[in-house]
Amino acid sequence: MAFTKKTVRDIDVDGKRIIMRVDFNVPLKDGVVTDDTRIKAAIPTIKYLKEHNAGIVLMSHLGRPKGDGPEPELSLKPAAEKLAELTGYDVKFVDDTYGEKATEAVNAVKPGDILVLENVRFDKREKKNDPEIAKKLASYGDIFVLDAFGTAHRSQGSVVGPAAYIPAVAGFLLEKEVDTLTSIFAEPERPFVAIVGGSKVSSKIGVLDHLIDSADTLIIGGGMAYTFFLAKGYKVGTSLKEEDWVERAGEMLKKAEEKGVKVLLPIDNIVADHFGEDAKGEAVDSDNIPDDRMGMDIGPKTEALFADAIKGAKTVFWNGPMGVFEFDQFAHGTEAVARAVAEVKSNGGTSIIGGGDSVAAINKFDLADKMSWISTGGGASMELVEGKKLPGVEALLDA
Ligand code: 3PG
Repeated sequence: MAFTKKTVRDIDVDGKRIIMRVDFNVPLKDGVVTDDTRIKAAIPTIKYLKEHNAGIVLMSHLGRPKGDGPEPELSLKPAAEKLAELTGYDVKFVDDTYGEKATEAVNAVKPGDILVLENVRFDKREKKNDPEIAKKLASYGDIFVLDAFGTAHRSQGSVVGPAAYIPAVAGFLLEKEVDTLTSIFAEPERPFVAIVGGSKVSSKIGVLDHLIDSADTLIIGGGMAYTFFLAKGYKVGTSLKEEDWVERAGEMLKKAEEKGVKVLLPIDNIVADHFGEDAKGEAVDSDNIPDDRMGMDIGPKTEALFADAIKGAKTVFWNGPMGVFEFDQFAHGTEAVARAVAEVKSNGGTSIIGGGDSVAAINKFDLADKMSWISTGGGASMELVEGKKLPGVEALLDA
């Protein structure tokens, strides 16, 4: 499925001022960006605009400020500095978003210049998609460019607002993300193996539902597997579980069976007597979890089972870890899955990583360059995979 909206390629940007929404919601430590993936991902569009003689005004949120004014630890200044470092461009920053100071700085932007505004969420009106905010931001440019894929599922002022007033098109990152995450479901090369992990069935029910409609094999691991075990009548000890979702999990398994989708659940698990960095694990079969033990990771037999299914795939979609991978002793299952997924690309297949914790896991095992595509969106990529439309994308001009 091709991307159906206009992009920066379809519009004349020469000599124009562009107001561009990026997702520079990056982790910071002591005022320094600790993961610049999202900044790097916005560079192709910034570079294109600069090389096509446009003036660029960048805006983003960072974190979840209260909206009552500046919170210095959530300033976008470090992100602006990182952008300058990564590109070698002169990047200006103004510590204002909607006021006089911002307007003055924006008016001084000439073709080829780059200005970063302060965090759009320092004002409550951003999250409420207040028309005043939208109008103000639209007044900063001749054209609105949305490249903030990670935020495209939010109906907020800087994401959807300017599109009501000035021509609005997508940047390259947004185009690539939407294209990649929708086309694998529309026309996957088969076998298509989907892997879903993480703690809760409740937060991924829409994703699971959609995956059962398109995958040949669905692998379920992580904390959510224990709710599926309950649906199968196993005991799960003190493992994480969502009693209210057991019935729904059972329905999912039934739906998969009816559709001929193979579901692989863990056949063994690493369990411990408590949750903690010092916890010690032991392997037990899934139908034999002791009452006083909790599941922390998939076991060795499951690693082999999952890896085997993954390696035979032509298309893999993965979201969510297999266990508590933050603790090294329970990271083995997630690592085994990550290594198997890494082989798919080298065997000529496609591996798509759907954002969130699985990205952190891939980075932990240093496998990022072995994947076909790693989404920069968490919630946004999940909503796309559920088959939902993203408000930010919907607001753009049709191609
Ligand atoms: C994200 O990190 O998923 C995006 O930047 C969106 O952030 P939000 O969940 O605070 O809207």
